Amino acid sequence: MKIRLFAKGDLLPILKLFNKNSDHDRLTNDLLSEKLFDDPDFDPHITLVTEINGKMIGFIQGVLRCIRGENIGYIKLMVVDKKYRRQGIARSMYKIIENHFKEHGASKVKIYDVPFNYFMPGIDPLYTPALCFAWRMGFERIGDTSNLLVELQNQDWSTWAEEAKLEKENITIKRITESDRDELFTFIAEHFELWKTEVEMSFSSNPIAVHIARLNGKLKAFSGHNGNNIGMGWFGPMGTHPDLRGKGIGGVLLKRCLQDMKNWKLKYSIIPWVGPIDFYSHYANALVDRVFWRFEKKLR
Ligand SMILES: CC(C)(COP(=O)(O)OP(=O)(O)OC[C@H]1O[C@@H](n2cnc3c(N)ncnc32)[C@H](O)[C@@H]1OP(=O)(O)O)[C@@H](O)C(=O)NCCC(=O)NCCS
Repeated sequence: MKIRLFAKGDLLPILKLFNKNSDHDRLTNDLLSEKLFDDPDFDPHITLVTEINGKMIGFIQGVLRCIRGENIGYIKLMVVDKKYRRQGIARSMYKIIENHFKEHGASKVKIYDVPFNYFMPGIDPLYTPALCFAWRMGFERIGDTSNLLVELQNQDWSTWAEEAKLEKENITIKRITESDRDELFTFIAEHFELWKTEVEMSFSSNPIAVHIARLNGKLKAFSGHNGNNIGMGWFGPMGTHPDLRGKGIGGVLLKRCLQDMKNWKLKYSIIPWVGPIDFYSHYANALVDRVFWRFEKKLR
């Protein structure tokens, strides 16, 4: 049995391993590539595979990020072939990654809830062995979060009436264009720093999957979709300047994104890692779909 670093050519075997051994999720080639290569901190030194006689039987992707000045390690994806479980394979790969995190000054490790680019925002407790593994590796459960589901095709997402009302208060809403880009990223840097990467990804959709609101010409709110798990109908992020909350701007911005996804013929949108359930329930009849447990291990 051999543990080695990720190498070119591993993508397909990892995809097969993942899809055969993860009972509740499927990756595609594009999604796996996004999780690996579109991650701003992708690092082959902490992306490990285990092989036995040349056959891939285990995979763990670690990511180290600096979040608001703090180095945090993340386990972003992990899977071991069912036939080879309980033989210490995940533990051995995890230990190598944890040591790397320690050597690089990480204060803690989290599992799956990786800001910017992630697959799921924690461990779905349906993966009970993964919960046991986390506890055994010294993690503590620090809370939970959920993904909401919105049915898209049988709901009306029109916003003209709300937009007409907002216009009377000099608030205008539109889809973003390239010429608004700098202003948007200045606004995000000031108020919602951690969402930059996802919004940048949304710019690669056609049309750009971002809507904005302006008050007296000044950008004050935005919403985006298709910025993570591309093609799966993921909504977010969205943010309204604190001074303008409570006016219904968020509701309009949300519905504009849902209308985009309806136009793309998607059946559902996923509103991940929530957050204000009541807001999404009110505007979009969103229902709690999957629940994820969040884990953390302090390294110092
Ligand atoms: C979670 C997973 C990666 C663990 O892989 P593994 O190679 O079997 O794990 P290890 O053998 O290294 O387990 C290390 C320790 O974790 C705990 N553990 C792992 N699986 C367990 C299980 N099914 N029940 C109880 N404890 C378990 C044990 O304490 C184990 O040590 P021990 O066997 O000496 O008691 C594997 O079960 C898996 O691929 N699950 C599906 C994918 C998945 O859940 N990914 C995470 C989704 S969020």
